[in-house]
Amino acid sequence: AQVQTIEAEKVKKAKNMAFAFDIDGVLVHGDRLIPEGKHPHIFLTNGSGKPEKARCEQLSKILKNPVNTEQFIQSHTPMSALAEYYSTVLVVGGEGYKCREVAEQYGFKDIVVPNDIVAWDPTIAPYRVFTEEERATSRPRDFSKVNIEAIMVFSDSRDYATDMQIIMDLLRSENGRLGTMAKDPIAQRIPIYFSQGDMLCPTEYWTPGTFRIGFEAMYRAVTGVDLERVVYGKPELATYKYADEVITSWMEHLHGEEKLPENVYMVGDNPASDIIGGNMYGWNTCLVRTGVFQGGDNDENNPANFGVFPNVLEAVKTALRKQL
Ligand code: G3P
Ligand code: MG
Repeated sequence: AQVQTIEAEKVKKAKNMAFAFDIDGVLVHGDRLIPEGKHPHIFLTNGSGKPEKARCEQLSKILKNPVNTEQFIQSHTPMSALAEYYSTVLVVGGEGYKCREVAEQYGFKDIVVPNDIVAWDPTIAPYRVFTEEERATSRPRDFSKVNIEAIMVFSDSRDYATDMQIIMDLLRSENGRLGTMAKDPIAQRIPIYFSQGDMLCPTEYWTPGTFRIGFEAMYRAVTGVDLERVVYGKPELATYKYADEVITSWMEHLHGEEKLPENVYMVGDNPASDIIGGNMYGWNTCLVRTGVFQGGDNDENNPANFGVFPNVLEAVKTALRKQL
C-alpha cells in the first residue's frame, strides 16, 4: 500500500511538469541525432520551411519515437492565425515551393511566391537563372493588377538578391501593386512578418540567419527609416504564449485533464533565443552544450536559471530528480 501511495504521488507530481525541447542543437544537429536526445515532450523550434506534418515525420524517424503535430511548434506555426487577416500574401523563403504548401495549410487564400513574380517579369531579377522546372511550377499573372496585402518571410531566402528586390519594391509600392510607387512609401507600407530572428542556426555548417538583418540594413539605407516589422519564433512572447497553449492541450491529451503544468522546463542551446525567452516567460531554463552555446559556467548575458548541462539527457535527469 505504501509503494502504491508513493507511486500515486509520483504520478501526481509528473502531471505537474512538462518539457519544451528545442530541436536544432539539442536533439539533432542537421540530420544527425544527438545520441542523448530520446526524450520527446513538446517541441519548440525556430526551424522552418516545411509543413508541420513532414517535419514531424522526419523528427519521428530521427528520434525513433512518434512525434505528433499537436506537440510540435516551428517558427511559422503561430502565423497560421494571420490567415484570418490577409488574403493575398507574398510568402518568401525555403526550398522549392514548400512554403507555399505551408501557407496553403494555414488557410491563406491567395499565395504568391517570388518565382511567380519572376516568371511574370524576369527583369525584376536580372541576374537570376530561371530553370525550366521553376518556370513550369510557377504561377505567373499580371502582378501590376494584384494587391499583395502582406509579406510573410517564412524561412531563410534561397536567393537573397531576388527576394530583397521584390520585397523592397512591394514595401514602397501603392497598395502592394508591383510596378507602382506609393505617394508616401513609409506611411503606406504593407506589413511584413518574419517567422524568426535567429542570428545563428546550428546546422552542420552554422549558417547565420542574416536575411532579415541584411534586409533591414538595406531598407534603412534606401528609405532613411527603420523597418517596422513583426518577428515570431523564440524568444518572442507571442510564440511562448502559443507554446503555453500547446502544452496545456498536449497535457490534456496525455492525462485527460486540462491543467497547465506549474513547472515547464525549456531545454535549449541558444541563450539568445531559447533561454532568454524561457526566462522571460517564467519557465525553468536549461542550457545545453550540444549546439550554439560553447561558453563557460553559464551564459553571461542570458544565464539559464536551472543550470547548464552537457546534453539534454543530463538536463532531463536533473529536472526529474528535482520534481519527482
Ligand atoms: O535558426 C533556425 C533553426 O535552425 C533553429 O532551430 O530548433 O534550435 O530552434 P532550433
Ligand atoms: Mg537550437
